[in-house]
Amino acid sequence: MKIAVFGLGYVGIVSAACLARDGHQVIGVDPQDTKVDLVNGGKPPIIEKNVGELIAEAVDSGALRATTSPAEAVAFADLSLVCVGTPSRKNGSLETGAVAKVCEEIGAAIAAKGAPHTVVIRSTILPGTMRGLVIPTLEKAVGARARELLRVANNPEFLRESTAVYDYDNPPKTVVGSEDPEVAQAVLDLYADLPGPKIATRLEVGEMVKYADNSWHAVKVAFANEIGNIAKAVGVDSWDVMDIFAQDTKLNISPYYLKPGFAFGGSCLPKDVRALTFKGRDLDLDLPLLNSLIATNTGQVDRAVEMIGDYGVRNIAFLGISFKAGTDDLRESPQVTLVERLIGKGFNLRIYDRNVHLSRLLGANRAYIESAIPHIAEILSDDLDAVLGHGDLVIVGNPAPEFKFLGGKVRSDQKVLDLVRVPGLSADLGDRYSGINW
Ligand SMILES: NC(=O)c1ccc[n+]([C@@H]2O[C@H](COP(=O)([O-])OP(=O)(O)OC[C@H]3O[C@@H](n4cnc5c(N)ncnc54)[C@H](O)[C@@H]3O)[C@@H](O)[C@H]2O)c1
Repeated sequence: MKIAVFGLGYVGIVSAACLARDGHQVIGVDPQDTKVDLVNGGKPPIIEKNVGELIAEAVDSGALRATTSPAEAVAFADLSLVCVGTPSRKNGSLETGAVAKVCEEIGAAIAAKGAPHTVVIRSTILPGTMRGLVIPTLEKAVGARARELLRVANNPEFLRESTAVYDYDNPPKTVVGSEDPEVAQAVLDLYADLPGPKIATRLEVGEMVKYADNSWHAVKVAFANEIGNIAKAVGVDSWDVMDIFAQDTKLNISPYYLKPGFAFGGSCLPKDVRALTFKGRDLDLDLPLLNSLIATNTGQVDRAVEMIGDYGVRNIAFLGISFKAGTDDLRESPQVTLVERLIGKGFNLRIYDRNVHLSRLLGANRAYIESAIPHIAEILSDDLDAVLGHGDLVIVGNPAPEFKFLGGKVRSDQKVLDLVRVPGLSADLGDRYSGINW
């Protein structure tokens, strides 16, 4: 393909050099003469392993050149990759000025060229930027023929500086966001020979994935550091701990616990987090991440209470009160906390849970539920239909298998708030359905 790469910084120059190596005809664009001159002289504008050799070879063979002229680049290419910077403003917000400017330039060049052109944003941009800034700016600049000439996609970049060429060749995944499957496929085809999953998705998902990734990486570093700080203070080798931690690919380094939904609970997680953070305070350690866990969890219960209040109804059918399906352990169930809060606010609840039979609850478990919800016997039932019949609003509190069939049972005047994302329920219920955070 003939490809224009806008922005000859870390991302742009690596993409340009690798695409040229892989047989494409590439033209790089940057307003900085020095960068353009360096590339045209076969030299890298950045320090990055292997990039120098790739640029020298590509320029030598004629596969890569650079220009300061967007019009020249768009006239030459079928597709533009936008790799301009999106730095932080002083207040932390995203500076999208360079993205807007490059869209104006590319749009005007497409209008002048009068032929279809694909614009792919590789710069990191917040969800909504494609639809709110990139597309309208391009459309305005292209003018009357925008619908006919313009194709757009978002293609977040996952490379790391210092291993950028290796990362380009071995991406953890390739993600393309576009509302047009043909455009998404054409962009994925650019990377056809690269390993890893290739994913076409919605525009906003493509934008958001990059932020989920980088926030997660930051959480991992902060977590390892706080665990390390505690370990050192108690005389334990933190690297021994984290080496073992990382060998657990079932619960630790895995998709487990990474689905948005309701608060964590049960007899271990809250207790153990509290004990560890108490120990941290005892050791005079500053542990902002670990200390935030209980607060963020409580916040998720608050969020549910607020969402339920917004429905403006009083009668609620609450399905699933144990912290996960298939257990009758109610200790520290956030669903119990939610029920308690709702009763306190005057909602009229009936609760269904197939696994919870008061007569069979013993010891601490029974004492806990009786103190948390004193009149639970009057509102708890194992008759799903009877409980469902009571609610103007149905809350799904855990993923018990029988909740998959709720679509066929819920009345047309009832709404459902799902805290756990029961498969298929959203499609079955349409606009009567809401998820807590999807
Ligand atoms: N650096 C990384 O490791 C990395 C990794 C993944 C994603 N990203 C994202 O990729 C984007 C680019 O990052 P970077 O580190 O390569 O930035 P950078 O600052 O190194 O390079 C940006 C380049 O864009 C050029 N530019 C500005 N306006 C332009 C215009 N109108 N036309 C053409 N070029 C223009 C600048 O002159 C500069 O050379 C950012 O959104 C960043 O968040 C960076």
